[in-house]
Amino acid sequence: MSFILGIESSCDETAVAVVRDGFEVLSSAVASQIASHARHGGVVPELAAREHLVALRPVLDEALATAGVTPRDIDAIAVTQGPGLMPALLVGLNFAKGLAAGWGKPLYGVNHFIAHIYGAFLDDGAEFLLDRNSYPMLALVVSGGHTNLLMIEAGGKATQLGCTLDDAAGEALDKAAKLLGLGYPGGPVMQRTAEGGDNKRFDFPRPLTGAAGKALAEANRFNFSFSGIKTALLYQVQALEAEYGALTPELVRDLAACFQEAVVDVLCRKTLAAAKHIGAHSIVAAGGVACNSILRDRLTALTPRGVKLRLAARKHCTDNAAMVAGLGFHHWQANPAGDPAAVAMDSYARLPQVTTVPFLR
Ligand code: KG4
Ligand code: ZN
Repeated sequence: MSFILGIESSCDETAVAVVRDGFEVLSSAVASQIASHARHGGVVPELAAREHLVALRPVLDEALATAGVTPRDIDAIAVTQGPGLMPALLVGLNFAKGLAAGWGKPLYGVNHFIAHIYGAFLDDGAEFLLDRNSYPMLALVVSGGHTNLLMIEAGGKATQLGCTLDDAAGEALDKAAKLLGLGYPGGPVMQRTAEGGDNKRFDFPRPLTGAAGKALAEANRFNFSFSGIKTALLYQVQALEAEYGALTPELVRDLAACFQEAVVDVLCRKTLAAAKHIGAHSIVAAGGVACNSILRDRLTALTPRGVKLRLAARKHCTDNAAMVAGLGFHHWQANPAGDPAAVAMDSYARLPQVTTVPFLR
């Protein structure tokens, strides 16, 4: 039996978790900083770093207490090394280094992007992950920082098929919500506001899908672009304000519904096209935007029979440390003694090219 402690601080959630044997989440404590950043309309990196510093110790205590374990029980510590906001990452990494040294445990740096994918297999996903019939697998990672399609093969080889050329899907939803005066973070509030709205009232573009009649360059077949939908929303808002003076709640509702629909439509089209292209046996969706009910329902409805679909549980979609601890388990299994050079490891801000996933060997 193994207990891995995970630490996450890449953005605005301070999170610590304990995972048993790679899948069973014994605790997943999260302190959200949303209230602090909301008045700035987005995440302020230096503010996030300061808040992580204050929150880490109590969140650690909570995670250990909820899991019913002591530091002595922990086999290894996994920490988000990147990608993310540098000041925020550094606080978590240095905290983890301190714990590893103080407790005498091996330390593993984890890729946050891959951890999001792994989040889809927590709890009861071991069978899905280990089933050879799940491969090739197409992973859609949609969050505030990423919109990515990744092909994963049974041996762990990974190939990026596409990514966003500008905003991430979550970032686009956040900016749209701000434009509509709905606050931060935008994803959940856009979903709530859009409920019951007319998602066909305004005609927003579907960038890089070839829908506008413009031929789609082969290189962009599985790439995304969301900034054009955002600009279309801005122009639509300006036109409506010129016509009506101010936006009525009904207009805001329909604008939110149409914007959300455009984002979900593009995500689903590209995901299904990519799955078909690689002959995927399974589709996995993860990351904060994978919380979205319209996206979940649409993927469920459109996934062809014979292709398995796994949507990360909502609680494991947005940033958390259970996904970090779970992925850390696989690093630990591959090298239980750890790397002595881990004390010198640095955080990284940008996503390096992903060519393998450590949870398959
Ligand atoms: O994974 P995450 O917590 O952080 C990153 O790694 O970026 O994702 C946060 C993003 C935000 O942009 C937020 O607006 C979006 O996920 N999000 C949603 C929903 N819940 C969170 N987007 C759409 N619908 C939701 N229900
Ligand atoms: Zn994330």
